[in-house]
Amino acid sequence: MKRGMLIAGNWKMNHSPSKTEEFFQAVGSLWNDKISAPTQEAISQGRLQICVCPPALSFHAAIGSRGNLPIEIGSQNTHLEKAGAFHGEISAPMLTEIGIRISLTGHSERRQYFGESDEVVRQRTLGLLNQGLQVIFCLGETLAERKTNQTEAVLLRQLESVLGSREQGAAQFLDGSLVVAYEPVWAIGTGLTASPEQAEAAHRFIRSFIEERFGSQAAEKTLILYGGSVNPENISSLLACPDVDGALVGGASLKPDSFLSLVEAGGNALAL
Ligand code: PGA
Repeated sequence: MKRGMLIAGNWKMNHSPSKTEEFFQAVGSLWNDKISAPTQEAISQGRLQICVCPPALSFHAAIGSRGNLPIEIGSQNTHLEKAGAFHGEISAPMLTEIGIRISLTGHSERRQYFGESDEVVRQRTLGLLNQGLQVIFCLGETLAERKTNQTEAVLLRQLESVLGSREQGAAQFLDGSLVVAYEPVWAIGTGLTASPEQAEAAHRFIRSFIEERFGSQAAEKTLILYGGSVNPENISSLLACPDVDGALVGGASLKPDSFLSLVEAGGNALAL
């Protein structure tokens, strides 16, 4: 029995406001054909959560055009301060004012291209959780790290940064507010998906870390998503792994048809 499932689209710097409206209009008209009754029921019962993270400029278009679709809107990048002189950033109160209550943190493109260190990721993750957001915290190793057998050491370092002993307050967020996304850097946007065995091994490692530090209840309540070249063809074998509780999907979440296939696969995996 799956512990719950989250399918999240990470649009990165794609889909302007007009493209976002087109996307949601198409998703709305295809919804009842593509999403089965059991999947729709799982969504309404809260066992399957669906989210899309557009560029901030497209938030309003997303919110305005999704209508009654049960798709939450999330932020790709959020500063931990509430307001102030932080050039180019947006804050949690700005998001919640327009009904957004999910943010990603620690994405490898933020770490790689915008210099976000483990310390920045730690501060943002805990800062946003403390402001009531649900946070999808991303972590994962590079190809060089995997090839030199450092995968577990890297995951441990990244987990420690957010959930280490220093973070007395982190345990309270292991009730579903903190979601972990394992995204091997070598799999992102490359078409090189981790095999189900590789994904399961990393997810098992992450869940064991949480269990050892915070107990089995926290480990069972924390969803661990896989990300990295997920598509409608490979998602089912990944979601069938016992410790994979959903997917964070970039490229394949951009097209309505493909996105809806991912959602339906999430619903089908819950029935496993
Ligand atoms: P991808 O991106 O699905 O295009 O590999 C995933 C991500 O970066 O979250």
